[in-house]
Amino acid sequence: MVEHVLITGGAGFIGSRLAARFAADGHIVTVLDSLIPQVHGHDPANTSPLLRSLEGVATVIEGSVTSTDDLRRALEGATIVIHLAAETGTGQSMYEIDRYVEANVGGTAKLLDLLANDDNDVRRVVIASSRSIYGEGAYRTEDARTVYPAHRANADMAAGDFEVHVPGEQELTLIPTDETAKLHPSSVYGITKQMQESLVMTVLPTLGREAVSVRYQNVYGPGQSLKNPYTGILSIFSTLIRQGKEINVFEDGLESRDFVYIDDVVEATFLASILPAAAGGIFNVGSGVATTVLDVVAALQDAYGIEVPVRVSGQYRLGDIRHNVADTTKLREVLGFVPAMRFTDGVKRFAEWVLTEPIEGDEYEKSLREMAERKLLK
Ligand SMILES: NC(=O)c1ccc[n+]([C@@H]2O[C@H](COP(=O)([O-])OP(=O)(O)OC[C@H]3O[C@@H](n4cnc5c(N)ncnc54)[C@H](O)[C@@H]3O)[C@@H](O)[C@H]2O)c1
Repeated sequence: MVEHVLITGGAGFIGSRLAARFAADGHIVTVLDSLIPQVHGHDPANTSPLLRSLEGVATVIEGSVTSTDDLRRALEGATIVIHLAAETGTGQSMYEIDRYVEANVGGTAKLLDLLANDDNDVRRVVIASSRSIYGEGAYRTEDARTVYPAHRANADMAAGDFEVHVPGEQELTLIPTDETAKLHPSSVYGITKQMQESLVMTVLPTLGREAVSVRYQNVYGPGQSLKNPYTGILSIFSTLIRQGKEINVFEDGLESRDFVYIDDVVEATFLASILPAAAGGIFNVGSGVATTVLDVVAALQDAYGIEVPVRVSGQYRLGDIRHNVADTTKLREVLGFVPAMRFTDGVKRFAEWVLTEPIEGDEYEKSLREMAERKLLK
């Protein structure tokens, strides 16, 4: 069956690859994207390779999910909507609160209003959620209970203690977070992702349509924005390495993330969009492996064959979490899919691609200054 897929934010990193995946299978693809300068540069037709990659793949409508008219035009004929459009910088979300809430929550609300009130053929909406909604992830206590630590206290981190704590518990061991975990985002970005997911999962069934949520961990790979200074440590560190500049590693460098390769994310999202079994489901999409920031730095330096000074500074950003790693059992059991790319292999492919691109990302220092001025970077 040929689907007509609307991908909001479809000119972005994940969306552009997903558009190509659907088009390759003969589906019709429409993209609605406002081409924000932070991701696409100031003259997208010339400065955005992601946008150019959509030529012959999708009908691109330049417009915003915060505009009812743009959304209405984009929804014409759509049978499946994959809602990726979002502002995505965790740190930036802590001081551009209105902008993040309007685009992420407001845009989702407008989309749902149209689905509820206009005639349309949409039978499923897939929402791109995020591991950020878990805040600090899941931990096991010494007597094998599962606990969800609160956000880390500024006073602890100022004293160089970056680990999570639960009152009355001595030893905590990080365990993978499954989809039933407590949701307690520690950033404005995370709050908006939780709201987007809750809105979609609550409203769609009342309309007799299907909702699916994919909770992405840290997605990386060829095509990720090298311009955006507000997101993507692999891009930011790559630029510093190529420039021979020092890397300032926050905290003690042992904070970790679950890095999941773009091809795995695209396949998981494709399956979540078309498989009947996915209907109503919420799926973690991650590699299931925790990688520390210091290991990221080492893997990148290795991949580029360049060594730069690395300073573990003890600085930290309010809103950041310490660790999170996905339990992907449900993805495997329901969608029959297992993210397969090992981090060291994925980083090599990423670095090979980066070397074909111009050196960008001059705005990183500026993004740090913005946070420091607002006392969000300590
Ligand atoms: N990349 C990750 O690691 C990651 C992790 C968790 C969740 N996600 C989610 O996945 C989705 C896609 O992320 P990505 O990495 O491709 O980000 P991206 O920034 O590359 O893509 C987002 C796209 O949305 C567009 N956009 C922003 N505001 C818009 C608006 N108001 N109207 C229309 N388009 C708008 C941007 O121009 C961009 O093309 C987002 O919802 C993000 O929150 C991503």
